[in-house]
Amino acid sequence: MCGIVGYLGKKNTKEILLDGLKELEYRGYDSAGIAVLQDNQFDSFKAVGKLVNLEEKTKDFVTENFAVGIGHTRWATHGKPTELNAHPHLGDSSYVVHNGIIENYATLKKELMDDGVRFLSQTDTEVIVHQFEKNLKSAENAFEAFAKTIHELKGAYAILLVTKSEDKTIFFAKHGSPMLVGINGENKVSSPEREGSLGYEKYFASSDAPLIGHCSDVNYFEDGDYGYVTADELAIFSKNGDKKKPNFSKLSTNKLSAQKDGYRFFMEKEIYEQSTVIADTLMGRVGDDEILFDEIDSSLFDGIHEIKLSACGTSYHSALSASYLFERYSKIKTSVEVASEFRYRSPVMTKDTLFVVISQSGETADTLETLKMAKEAGLKTLVICNVDNSSMVRLADATILTRAGIEKGVASTKAFATQVAVFWMMSLYLAKLRNSLEANEIARQVSLLREIPTSVKVTDAMHEKIKRLSKRYLHGHGFFFIGRDIFYPLALEGALKLKEISYLHAEGYPSGEMKHGPIALADPELFTIALLPQHLLYEKAKSNVEELSARDSTICAISPIEFDKADDFIQTTVCKDYMLEFFEMMVVVQLFSLEISVRLGNDVDMPRNLAKSVTVE
Ligand code: AGP
Repeated sequence: MCGIVGYLGKKNTKEILLDGLKELEYRGYDSAGIAVLQDNQFDSFKAVGKLVNLEEKTKDFVTENFAVGIGHTRWATHGKPTELNAHPHLGDSSYVVHNGIIENYATLKKELMDDGVRFLSQTDTEVIVHQFEKNLKSAENAFEAFAKTIHELKGAYAILLVTKSEDKTIFFAKHGSPMLVGINGENKVSSPEREGSLGYEKYFASSDAPLIGHCSDVNYFEDGDYGYVTADELAIFSKNGDKKKPNFSKLSTNKLSAQKDGYRFFMEKEIYEQSTVIADTLMGRVGDDEILFDEIDSSLFDGIHEIKLSACGTSYHSALSASYLFERYSKIKTSVEVASEFRYRSPVMTKDTLFVVISQSGETADTLETLKMAKEAGLKTLVICNVDNSSMVRLADATILTRAGIEKGVASTKAFATQVAVFWMMSLYLAKLRNSLEANEIARQVSLLREIPTSVKVTDAMHEKIKRLSKRYLHGHGFFFIGRDIFYPLALEGALKLKEISYLHAEGYPSGEMKHGPIALADPELFTIALLPQHLLYEKAKSNVEELSARDSTICAISPIEFDKADDFIQTTVCKDYMLEFFEMMVVVQLFSLEISVRLGNDVDMPRNLAKSVTVE
């Protein structure tokens, strides 16, 4: 998740921008930069790595008069983490910073390059500033050029732009990525001739934290909002071009709460963020009736007759989920390895196997070692990862980023969700390449993919139900999470989530395996969380659960279909496809673990004995 800051006023612009970026560090980043326009003179600085590198570069830079300035921390989605790709991006006499993904950047970039524009970066963002300057040539003024540019963009964005052509103004636009503007009401300058005067300074940020201590009142922009600020004015226009009044609210003063966006834990925030980050993960990759991965070349799959996936923990569960999709849709032999086992079992590897490692951090020692083994054996390698400049990304032949943004909670949630979303896309991408699915079936599934963000949206009713229900599951001699087919890896993931943050014992099991021994444990103190999707082996799974219920095991059924033999029942929505049921049930088991952990008084975000990235064996 990138971070944006902006400032207009007479205070120390450089310090305000750098301090603001520091407040956004928690969102994760791999590079940062600022651009300041004072006395119609631009100064811009960018640095890869931590903010201290940027501070070092700006140490001799002084801002003491009126200035406009913008700043950015970048989490790479398009283009490697380099200085050239860091924001702000420069046109001829304008700079821009941007959060989000410009879906039509390739088209705009081609048109601009055909007009002779030279691009310095690999980013989608850079097209914004060049498109603005192209429009500036024919517009009446900078705002007209900016408005035209915004209406030409498709995708998600939060944008700040400054330009010499109006050097006492900051232009802004928001659609799909958060941004707010703040003022300090105490120093409000009210004078009759200044229509809408709101106080001299204007502050921008992509979340509350950077404005705390500077602003008393903030306006959260809505999708479609765009406009400009000057010392005298805040002009906001809705997407249909109508001017609208700011809607100010008081700014919270608690920075940690602000970083959690008001949620109790980062893990809770990240569960709620899944809808947004999955939308980001799909952005630019889900075509009308096909999947597009512009970050890989289809030749990666030439001569490939098998896929082997290697990962640990939650990433192993997403890999297991992928194996069902690859064999079912891509019709390609797929195997899955626990990395720590694979390392030492003298595995046989053949060059017609694509070796895929999955890792949120890209640093997990066991997984990284298996990647090295595959490369040494001459296999083609692909990494599905959330961190662009990680060890695995630097080592693999190809990378598909999950765009989940930083995941602060040690127990993984949104990273898992985006990994499975990538694998679903990849199974369809491969199905087209291998002609293993009819075009209309691929098109049908592509349209289903677009519904994932809706399927993972947390409703108050669902969360409240799980919160209430969780009080009954704080003891017992253990939990079974059971599911069939691709719901078996989800059962494993649900069990892991519970273990990690509640410290209660839980096992994930294929539903059909219960009668092969585990059912001996069935009694009222054994809690079974049963995943019963409507669209995948429902009757089979239901009869497995009935076997447990008949032996007085305490059952919590998760299903769109009423199940009268359960002690507790969490009703999910009737979906069109089992994969949408998968994502909705994923949220249920995540919240279930969270609420039990909260009731037990555990540290949800930093559970005992665990590290976010296991970089040792
Ligand atoms: C997930 O909740 C755990 N924190 C852990 O199992 C994690 O998934 C595993 O350590 C792998 O991490 P990675 O995805 O960064 O490689």
